[in-house]
Amino acid sequence: MTMIRRHNQSAICMHWFNALCWLFLLGSGFALLAGEMQPIGAWWSELWVGIFGEAGLLVAHIAIGSLWAGIYALYTPLFLRRDVLPFLREIFAVSLRCDLIWCIRKAFWLVMGASGMRKIGMQTQLPAQGFYNAGQKFVAIAAIICSISLVVTGLLLAFSVMQQGLEALVRWALLLHLCCAGLMAILLPVHIYMAACAPGERPALISMLTGFVPEDFAKHHNPLWHASLVEKAGEHNRH
Ligand code: HEM
Repeated sequence: MTMIRRHNQSAICMHWFNALCWLFLLGSGFALLAGEMQPIGAWWSELWVGIFGEAGLLVAHIAIGSLWAGIYALYTPLFLRRDVLPFLREIFAVSLRCDLIWCIRKAFWLVMGASGMRKIGMQTQLPAQGFYNAGQKFVAIAAIICSISLVVTGLLLAFSVMQQGLEALVRWALLLHLCCAGLMAILLPVHIYMAACAPGERPALISMLTGFVPEDFAKHHNPLWHASLVEKAGEHNRH
């Protein structure tokens, strides 16, 4: 079985650092919501307060948020050409019509399978995908927008504690902070399900550990990316 490189070491390290920070920040952030604002239940806040203490929970949330933002502030310029720009180029290579068709057909396929889709007269063929599929691109774009807005509003909230007269700004910052966290709390379980549990995705999950995917998998899941690799290899051989 021929294996091809899909992720390099720095991208893999950053992905798992990112995943751990996000899970901690979402968990601790939801625990900070009190009373009727608490969507999970009082037990969730009690669990986290039991671990970090009443004041310690906010300190831990701000500390991990700052660590996460600080590491990305270093990583982005240092790995701009190698990781960041190629990643941005791939996720913003959106073709709205094709990508929406991919998302709709994939969702029906996951819920009712190919035979169910044929029964209701739907086509089962998914539009060919590049390095990322349409679902990955939409989640990644949302994650970038939400990340920037969470950092800006988070910093505002953290520093406004010491300032008087910023009540209106703080309310808007808190609303935006909660909306972005809420959106990511919906999208991340979808990302995790699609990456770790959905049928046929195991090689992609393994590639986030080893860096490599079987060539047949790439050919089937990411035919446009595979075709571009074949073309590059052809050009390289000609020179
Ligand atoms: C434990 C939970 C998670 C699992 C199992 C997981 C799994 C994966 C896998 C397997 C891929 C590679 C997909 C591919 O090669 O096509 C991936 C990519 C990605 N994931 Fe996650 N993920 C998790 C959490 C997160 C979180 C919390 C975020 C935060 C926003 C995130 C953001 C991303 C991004 C931006 C990519 C593309 C990155 C790249 O290709 O370098 N993931 N994830």
